[in-house]
Amino acid sequence: MTDARTGSDDPAVQFIAVHKWYGAFHALRDINLTVRRGERIVVCGPSGSGKSTLIRCVNRLEEHQRGSIVVDGVELTPDVKRIDEVRREVGMVFQTFNLFPHLTVLDNCTLAPIWVRRMARRDAEDLAMQLLARVKIPEQATKYPGQLSGGQQQRVAIARALCMTPKIMLFDEPTSALDPEMVKEVLDTMTALAQDGMTMIVVTHEMGFARQVADRVVFMDEGEIVEIDAPEPFFDHPQHERARLFLRQVLR
Ligand SMILES: Nc1ncnc2c1ncn2[C@@H]1O[C@H](COP(=O)(O)OP(=O)(O)OP(=O)(O)O)[C@@H](O)[C@H]1O
Ligand SMILES: [Mg+2]
Repeated sequence: MTDARTGSDDPAVQFIAVHKWYGAFHALRDINLTVRRGERIVVCGPSGSGKSTLIRCVNRLEEHQRGSIVVDGVELTPDVKRIDEVRREVGMVFQTFNLFPHLTVLDNCTLAPIWVRRMARRDAEDLAMQLLARVKIPEQATKYPGQLSGGQQQRVAIARALCMTPKIMLFDEPTSALDPEMVKEVLDTMTALAQDGMTMIVVTHEMGFARQVADRVVFMDEGEIVEIDAPEPFFDHPQHERARLFLRQVLR
């Protein structure tokens, strides 16, 4: 698929025979995955299967020891300049929102654009307000994170990541710390982002979201990608016993 903005048809993210160890523990085993530009990937699997490790390797929050990871045409190596280059293109949203509690919503959003992108404050604020409007909470701009609901805080975290105009967005269980009534507003925000063509890798157990939004579902177990398929065949006819067992548990 050709990227509308760059005209480039190289993949957004490519894992080639990637292995990762935490000490002696083999956390990722021979991961091969190519994410096309504009593609939406949902990653699921049991606790401890390596989902967070996998996506954290994309922006080098974790380091792999073997194989290669290429993000937006840049191979991740210990070279700090390359890591910075990749991090500028990759936004991440965590389960716990990781907002700065002593900064207003607006200042949370403008911090990186001003200090990393060297954007003028006025421009950074205009951009932040546009993105807060996009996640439907422009009226919260002057509040502090502690004054917002969990769902609102997570939408701020999404807006904050978007303020760096990333090419790729990573989500690590963005709704699993939320009360049920707030899950939908965050999933709706993510669905809208997907409809706008953002490349997304989402770790989630929200199987309704996976069915509706994902182009492909990646199922992991014990550090391996066990199954990759479009949502319909994955949910309707999972190939592996481990995937069937997992689906029975989450869909129960
Ligand atoms: N910093 C670390 N040091 C040592 N082991 C780690 C570290 N981080 C993760 N692990 C181990 O690596 C494995 C994969 O962890 P990871 O967090 O990627 O799993 P996960 O699939 O995201 O699980 P969960 O669904 O519980 O979030 C687990 O066995 C975990 O204990
Ligand atoms: Mg995890």
